[in-house]
Amino acid sequence: MLMNRAFTWPRLLGNSSGGIAYGGDYNPDQWPESVWPEDIRLMQQAGVNVVALGIFSWDRIQPAEDEWDFDWLDRIIAMLGCADISVDLASATASAPLWLYEKYPQMLSRDKFGHAINAGARQSWSASSPIFREYALELCRRLAERYGDNPTVTAWHVGNEYGWNNRHDYSDEALRAFRAWCECKYGSVEKLNEAWCSSFWSQEVRSFQEVLLPRHMGADAMVNPAQQLDFERFSNDALLDCYCAERDAIAAICPDKPITTNFMISTDQCAMDYAQWGAEVDFVSNDHYFHEGESHLDELLCSDSLVSSIARRHPWYLMEHSTSSVQWKPVNARKCHGELLRDALAHVAMGADAINFFQWRQSRGGAEAFHSAMLPHAGADTRLFRQVCETGEALKDLSEVAGTTVMPSRVGILFDAQSQWSTEIPTLPTTKLDHWHDVRDWYRSFLDAGLRADVVPLAHDWEQYDLLVLPTLFMLSDSAVRRLERYVRGGGAIVVGYATGIVNDAFQVSLGGYPGTGDGLLRTMLGVSGEEFNILGAVGTAEHVELSDGGMSRLWQTCLTRIDDDAETLAAYTGAGAREWELSGMPAIVAHQYGGGRTWYIGCDVRREDITRFICDQLAPQIGLELGDPRVVSIDRADDAHVFHCVFNRSGTDVELCLTGAPVLLARGSRGQDAVTLHANGVLIMQSPR
Ligand code: GAL
Repeated sequence: MLMNRAFTWPRLLGNSSGGIAYGGDYNPDQWPESVWPEDIRLMQQAGVNVVALGIFSWDRIQPAEDEWDFDWLDRIIAMLGCADISVDLASATASAPLWLYEKYPQMLSRDKFGHAINAGARQSWSASSPIFREYALELCRRLAERYGDNPTVTAWHVGNEYGWNNRHDYSDEALRAFRAWCECKYGSVEKLNEAWCSSFWSQEVRSFQEVLLPRHMGADAMVNPAQQLDFERFSNDALLDCYCAERDAIAAICPDKPITTNFMISTDQCAMDYAQWGAEVDFVSNDHYFHEGESHLDELLCSDSLVSSIARRHPWYLMEHSTSSVQWKPVNARKCHGELLRDALAHVAMGADAINFFQWRQSRGGAEAFHSAMLPHAGADTRLFRQVCETGEALKDLSEVAGTTVMPSRVGILFDAQSQWSTEIPTLPTTKLDHWHDVRDWYRSFLDAGLRADVVPLAHDWEQYDLLVLPTLFMLSDSAVRRLERYVRGGGAIVVGYATGIVNDAFQVSLGGYPGTGDGLLRTMLGVSGEEFNILGAVGTAEHVELSDGGMSRLWQTCLTRIDDDAETLAAYTGAGAREWELSGMPAIVAHQYGGGRTWYIGCDVRREDITRFICDQLAPQIGLELGDPRVVSIDRADDAHVFHCVFNRSGTDVELCLTGAPVLLARGSRGQDAVTLHANGVLIMQSPR
């Protein structure tokens, strides 16, 4: 089981101490110094009490190999300190200076084709480069020596979004490091060959010096999935190792201030295995950028739920989000009225005790000039800046929420970054699998049933949940299956999704029928066995298959050919699509009693509304879950004395809520004597004794 470092939360200065941190990335090095006093004045007006400083300022701090310039940093830190704005000081290592790449081009990472990445943006360096490491650590030490005792600096921000631009590196340095990583993992080439099934296509290695990176192998060449998966793991570990080295260089000089690095957890990407990274930070911080449209709030809550689990339910830090549009999508939607505040409060409800934006002042040039910020191009007399100030006020009113814990749900949806990577392998029965998206669909289906689930890493504790859902956990290790078996035997309930448990952690298919992981143990628990996968989508064939319970499948049906006598078929395939694909009458959803617990196997993908119906008709009565109002989502944060009850409107139309008599801390809606009408993006937060 993963163990986290001791949780330490950064101190705030002055009157804010104990409250919610509020601010953003601050890049004063990108502006003339004459702008700084106005920055500080407007930060105070907006209620800003923290900034993340100097994230991309390596070049400014070290303009040449033997030249260091801390004076500007001294001055701005002093000004911020006088204004009681605490500093989360960056290690400034995310973007290395051009002179360094010029001197050591071997520090650049390489793409699949062996081409060196050109310097000129950020994170161009290779995580395996000893030269990068040497210079980065020197910078960390210098910063720690200079600011370790500075009372305004209350936290360290190491790197920035590790792996955003340099997640995969195919350089010779990476090759050397990958070989060493494999040797450390497998110990002998025999073990590696066995795990990688290297006898396939004559790929056995005779020594670790023959191990290769999955570089470009020619058009249409197919990569060994086990090698690819190990490369994903290695790349994650190489970046994590970089972070840990920088963290340790700072901590050796400044041991008493908390250190973090900002994660990128959102449901449309999975760069790192953050369950591992969470164990290496003193407090978890995350960057989250909204999804426009009807999934906006749901997606935010789903991502945050995983962040909160990774933070082990301690408060966590929203290091970046946006006041309005970003500039990196093909079409960049702005936030509508009320969404800025609503999003900030939704993050708070999900456990964030710090609400920060990228960035304080909108850039006038550079690649991010059209990315929104707290202080827009048009200045302070703007709708957006007024909303930023309103949010600062609201967070002050909620200062007592800081330090409380998000109350857990009774349902856990298991997420595993490595399973996500395995669904991204291009040689599966279909390239349309996406574990994270299926987690999100399940999360949203629970919301549609008026229930809230927690998203929990597979590697964490989850035995305390009454029900676990395993959506598209394509890869499941034998030990994970044994753990699940103990959980169910002891009375737990699990729902196993259609493409779950197909390969083990070496990406090998367990034989004897699907889903076979755990050497058949998963099949036994579920009381089913399948022989083939029926994949829809081929041109000229049925686009969907109906289910006898009214559901519909559009991608994947596991052809179940054996059902235990004591298993119960809850839905079977039917209709024209089923006839065409010879599935008529074949079980699609099967329930089974195992030990003291219960299992459900859903052998096909189904629509969100089908999942919701399944939750309402099957899971809720069996587990004893009380269905709520799907138009709103309610989240409680509590400590021993208080409960903060946060309600958000997710319906897009007005929702009237009766007031319980509990004091209202915040209401964004129309308030009557005994009721509040929450408009779209409306929020209600009440406080009551526990
Ligand atoms: C993040 C990054 C920030 C900024 C932001 C824009 O990925 O950490 O520096 O680029 O995106 O959305």
